[in-house]
Amino acid sequence: MRVLGLESSCDETAAAIVVDGTTVLADVVASQHEVHAKYGGVVPELASRAHILNVVPVVQAALDRAGTKLADLDGIAVTNAPGLVGALLVGLQTAKSLAWVTGKPLVGVHHLEGHLSAVYLEPDPPPMPHLALIVSGGHTSLVRVNAHADVIELGGTRDDAAGEAFDKGAKLLGLGYPGGVVIDRLAKTGDPKAVKFPLAMTTRDTGAEFSFSGLKTALLHHVRKHGVPDGQALSDLCASYQWSIVESLVRKTRRIARREGLAHLQVCGGVAANSGLRASIRAAGEEDGFRVYIPPPHRCTDNAAMIAAAGYHRLVRGERAGLDLDAVPSLPLPRRSA
Ligand code: KG4
Ligand code: ZN
Repeated sequence: MRVLGLESSCDETAAAIVVDGTTVLADVVASQHEVHAKYGGVVPELASRAHILNVVPVVQAALDRAGTKLADLDGIAVTNAPGLVGALLVGLQTAKSLAWVTGKPLVGVHHLEGHLSAVYLEPDPPPMPHLALIVSGGHTSLVRVNAHADVIELGGTRDDAAGEAFDKGAKLLGLGYPGGVVIDRLAKTGDPKAVKFPLAMTTRDTGAEFSFSGLKTALLHHVRKHGVPDGQALSDLCASYQWSIVESLVRKTRRIARREGLAHLQVCGGVAANSGLRASIRAAGEEDGFRVYIPPPHRCTDNAAMIAAAGYHRLVRGERAGLDLDAVPSLPLPRRSA
């Protein structure tokens, strides 16, 4: 089954063609980072406009690279929730128009279900059920994955997402947008013990909840007191800040893996591209005896191959969306009742 995936929920316009939810024929991503860089974050209206300019060329490029015609497709999957509503609408309208003119089946995909499906594009994906740590610019959640499209959120962040903590920290340090990747690079040559930052919600039993706003404030106080350093001191500050984010994520994740009795963990979303997190969670898995699965970095950040993979599982179950499929800016995953 050859599925066209479309993704436009934030600042990446992406189209991909994936066979049977596992084999990627084409995976095209047009990033808008340059559009938003000077504002230090995503400007929703500018994102919508850039999606409009990019979406048709990106779909065309995906079809060309896959050597596929619209007529060869077996279905179209599109992110319809959650995200910036104007941005979502561009991908959604494109997907609906294509479904209408070709008569191909259409399905809507939850963006986080997409992130959870990226690892199924790899040769050795995790079995069900497993635990998932989703860490992106908009979300930080621990999720129990029972089956494709059957997930329960065990807990999430009370305030900022992990990616937001990276991006806001980087903005404060004048490192540009998106800052996660810059902090990651500088942290590699820094001393993570140089500056002591808080590890929120890791000492008491706070279930599967996270908090990163205190860390951001601690960085602000540090910078107000000492200024923004450069050279080695900047690398040390980035390494310490990153260590605090990673350590909070890892401590909480290993505790919940134990509590849930799950021996397989996947980590996904843009922050899963972070080299510090990848190394620490793998080391924790080896110590505690759970197996860790992380997609390659380019499939951690937003892409449409993961949307096509998630859509495939809905299509094979016979799910079909009508042309009234709507964009939903905020749509939490189902939560386990207390
Ligand atoms: O999944 P994603 O591409 O978009 C959302 O769904 O939000 O995640 C984007 C986030 C941004 O906050 C970005 O700074 C962060 O992922 N990110 C990283 C790295 N690469 C991307 N954070 C830390 N280290 C990285 N290497
Ligand atoms: Zn994402």
